[in-house]
Amino acid sequence: MTFRSTETTASSLDPDASDVGAEGGIADTSCMLNGRGAKPPEPEAVPEIPPTVAALEGDARELPLGADSVDLIATSPPYWKKRDYGVEGQIGQEATASAYTQALIECLREWRRVLRPTGSVFLNIGDTFHNKTLAGVPARVEAAAGDDGWIIRNRIIWAKDGGMPEPAQNRLANRHEYIIHLVARHEYYYDLFGYSRAIGNGANPGDVWHIKPERNMGKHLAPFPALLFVWG
Ligand SMILES: C[S@@+](CC[C@H](N)C(=O)[O-])C[C@H]1O[C@@H](n2cnc3c(N)ncnc32)[C@H](O)[C@@H]1O
Repeated sequence: MTFRSTETTASSLDPDASDVGAEGGIADTSCMLNGRGAKPPEPEAVPEIPPTVAALEGDARELPLGADSVDLIATSPPYWKKRDYGVEGQIGQEATASAYTQALIECLREWRRVLRPTGSVFLNIGDTFHNKTLAGVPARVEAAAGDDGWIIRNRIIWAKDGGMPEPAQNRLANRHEYIIHLVARHEYYYDLFGYSRAIGNGANPGDVWHIKPERNMGKHLAPFPALLFVWG
């Protein structure tokens, strides 16, 4: 355990909250919103509970956390073959996209151990051009995670309007990444009203999020925007 990972965050969501929803529960909520003439009820005020903050160092495949102790994992692992972070045991420098996918599956198994049954994983991931072809990394990870028992609830597109110019003359510049929402069980906590309030755009804000990359003023090579974390 030689390096720092602050992305795995234990929050204080109440797993017994009334809108803990199975697939049906969420569908019911949108029916209420779209129902004929039925005025949607005002969401009940939820008391603010200060989150527990702790910075832990270690490998994401071996977390120093107990089983069933985490509500939310929002994480941005290194993308395949992009940056060398120069840390022992780092993810991202595997020889093949398959080996990288397997490394993320090992992470996901460990995260499933620490995750509460109502918990969620929001995995920010991008693709890589390797030998002039897209490697299809996000699709590989989704397929492998599904095969490993995860339920894939959303593939959110993080649309980055603007961005650095790319030198390629025979393809379009890459302007998006993904945030994959995974859960271990159908009965997971979900606050669609919260999303609607935070993001706007009607009762269901949709799975394309427009978030400007933040100017990198710090020493980290690849910080992800605070808003991405707030929404995820
Ligand atoms: C894309 S950056 C994450 C950026 C972060 N979300 C932020 O906004 O600051 C990827 C991070 O994963 C770390 N990392 C690499 N391999 C890891 C591993 N096996 N376990 C935990 N973290 C790892 C890297 O050192 C790097 O800090």
